[in-house]
Amino acid sequence: MLFHRVLITGANGLLGQQLVHQMSAHAEYDLLATARDLQPRFPAASCGYAPLDITDHEAVKRLFDDFTPTVVINCAAMTKVDQCENEREACWSVNADAVGHLARTCRTHGARLVQVSTDFVFDGADGPYREDARPNPVNFYGRSKLAGENAVREASAGNWTIARTVLVYGTAHALSRTNIALWVIDNLRRSNPIHVVTDQWRTPTYAPDLADGIEKLVRHNKTGIYHLSGTDFLTVHDFALQVARVFDLDASLINPITSAELGQDADRPSRTGFIVLKAASEVGYKPRPVGQALRALGQHLGLPVSTPSP
Ligand SMILES: NC(=O)c1ccc[n+]([C@@H]2O[C@H](COP(=O)([O-])OP(=O)(O)OC[C@H]3O[C@@H](n4cnc5c(N)ncnc54)[C@H](OP(=O)(O)O)[C@@H]3O)[C@@H](O)[C@H]2O)c1
Repeated sequence: MLFHRVLITGANGLLGQQLVHQMSAHAEYDLLATARDLQPRFPAASCGYAPLDITDHEAVKRLFDDFTPTVVINCAAMTKVDQCENEREACWSVNADAVGHLARTCRTHGARLVQVSTDFVFDGADGPYREDARPNPVNFYGRSKLAGENAVREASAGNWTIARTVLVYGTAHALSRTNIALWVIDNLRRSNPIHVVTDQWRTPTYAPDLADGIEKLVRHNKTGIYHLSGTDFLTVHDFALQVARVFDLDASLINPITSAELGQDADRPSRTGFIVLKAASEVGYKPRPVGQALRALGQHLGLPVSTPSP
């Protein structure tokens, strides 16, 4: 096992915080967590922290000179899909341009870039997808993330990993946006009716399982594209029903709706979701089934959960 100096960007986000938490438990990683805020949002961890906006190219260079990472895991992104549709310049600057600059800086320093990407690079016509499927994004977020992937492939001279994922849920400190599981739990606990789409299929991903998959890719020095998601292929509506079942909440508050009726600013791909056999066979990636993951989330949140049916 090689000793790695790991730089994590976007470390105050859902995945970033989870990666910091899990990777700092391994003595073979020297971690530096970075994010836009002056301070980390998570409690003082056993790793360093420095503020870093990845669109500030000079700051990125300075940080590489100081820390000399061997691996960079880029979790920083503009992730609100409708915001990306409406604020295109800002979105491109973070999700595409800054990623290209990170990749070139990694090449200069001989570091491997692990770029976290998305199922939204696909059009959703025929998911679940394998790694070699042809991307064809249907919204601006997807286009910006695909441009980020392409910048990594062009700049990194083979020393790159793209870890794509799907509909990530979990909890962390002071998140700047919610996620599907927390949103359903929060609304149903307050007896608020919600509308959830019946025509978007996904393989939802529990953030700790995703962090585990990424750690395994780093540990085994894997390069190339890997799909890391859950393995249950279901509609977002069915996922919400599972949340209600596990957390013993009133499922009658969950109203079905179609994507057309919902009318969000950005189009969403219909059937995405991933086949994760490559990561399973090469690095032993083994995400929990959705019921088990939701029970783990309940334990983390300190909320009562139903007992699993035999
Ligand atoms: N969540 C999903 O369902 C999902 C699905 C597929 C792929 N992904 C990918 O997974 C990765 C991690 O996302 P996540 O779920 O952890 O989302 P997240 O919680 O929104 O985390 C993204 C983080 O990036 C930070 N960020 C934005 N612009 C930045 C900049 N210029 N410099 C430094 N940091 C910046 C954000 O900071 P602020 O907190 O200050 O805004 C946020 O903390 C992203 O690449 C995303 O595209 C996510």
